[in-house]
Amino acid sequence: MTDQATSPAFVPGLAGVIAAQSDVGFVDGENGILEYRGIRIEELAEKSTFEETAYLLLYGKLPKRAELKTFEQQLKSHRQVKPEILDMISRFPKDGHPMAALQTCVGAMGLYYPRTGAVNAAEREVASHRIIAQVATMLAAIARRMQGASAVAPREDLGHAANFLYMLNNEEPAEILARTLDVAMILHAEHTLNASTFTCRVVASTEADPYSAVSAAIGSLGGPLHGGANERVLDMLEAIGQADKAKAWFEDAVAHKKKIMGLGHRVYKVKDPRAFALQKLATRVFEELGTTPLYDIAKVIEDLAAERLGPKGIYPNVDFFSGTVYLKMGIERVLFTPIFAIARVAGYLGHYDEQMQDNKIFRPRQEYMGTHQAPYIPMDDR
Ligand code: ACO
Repeated sequence: MTDQATSPAFVPGLAGVIAAQSDVGFVDGENGILEYRGIRIEELAEKSTFEETAYLLLYGKLPKRAELKTFEQQLKSHRQVKPEILDMISRFPKDGHPMAALQTCVGAMGLYYPRTGAVNAAEREVASHRIIAQVATMLAAIARRMQGASAVAPREDLGHAANFLYMLNNEEPAEILARTLDVAMILHAEHTLNASTFTCRVVASTEADPYSAVSAAIGSLGGPLHGGANERVLDMLEAIGQADKAKAWFEDAVAHKKKIMGLGHRVYKVKDPRAFALQKLATRVFEELGTTPLYDIAKVIEDLAAERLGPKGIYPNVDFFSGTVYLKMGIERVLFTPIFAIARVAGYLGHYDEQMQDNKIFRPRQEYMGTHQAPYIPMDDR
């Protein structure tokens, strides 16, 4: 029974339901097109930086030279994290998942900064810069905590991706590593109304502060059906072990109707354009640093999947190749999803701002499937 007789039909997973109007990003799942503010992702990956892309997502246009310089300076000025939050990180369990830690830290920012971003546009702008800058510092500190090492203070002379790698390893990264992460972050920065961005918009719609909205979105991103898949792709490739075992593994997975991590997408019915871009990136990294057998396994699975699952529209998504690239860069697998998160916050915050421009609280209906007029049975009679 529906709340009201006039309710539209129940759509599981809201598949295909238009729940927001947006000009932040655009996906054409039939033709494999992804645009941020109208600009193709391939072009941004080739020509932009994460900072410039974040500006584009937040402000709706590419910055002029002086605007970019100011924006980069603003991000740098926000890199330092509150000592209280660093102290909190130093007390986290070493074996806790960094996604839980990052979500906690972003939520905790609301303890130390004004929570008026929903209604105050100027505060919203500052909070956006603060979150984009500080998630990198917090994640590096969380990763170091997992190693039993102390946090490394950010440097102002490095770009966003290079500074993150510096804080992670306490060593200035080689140019190829910094640019690879920069491009990977561009590719992960926005993807329309996916589960975590929708979460962000739902929380924003209650006029909750940006820290609460982004923290909730990070919680949503961590699930294995969403951003958490990249870590599991690596588990899968390692379990397969070598390329000549991939066919047997694949046949078994298909026969048992197992979901193969890194394949399939709610929107794309062709190969995810970000998977193409990540493969291009992988080729560059492997040329410089040497290849990995895991990539060969991934390519065998991709070919087999194209033949067997392609007719169902199941092809590699963004998560399929990212892990092999990160692993080659010396990044631990538990950091794959949080690195996705520190890029995606730019998209979340573009959506948060857009939601506040013309807000209406999200309140869909449910279809009630239970009973009515049920008796209250006394405890002893149950
Ligand atoms: N491997 C094998 N079969 C698959 C896969 C897969 N990865 N994904 C979907 N299918 C099959 C399903 O078994 C189902 O088959 P059936 O019709 O014979 O029962 C059909 O395709 C439809 O699958 P759904 O799960 O209903 O598709 P939905 O659009 O709801 O799910 C999702 C999309 C969640 C991404 C799914 O493809 C999946 O679980 N993929 C693996 C996890 C993953 O890689 N997630 C990352 C997505 S990208 C991102 O979030 C950043």
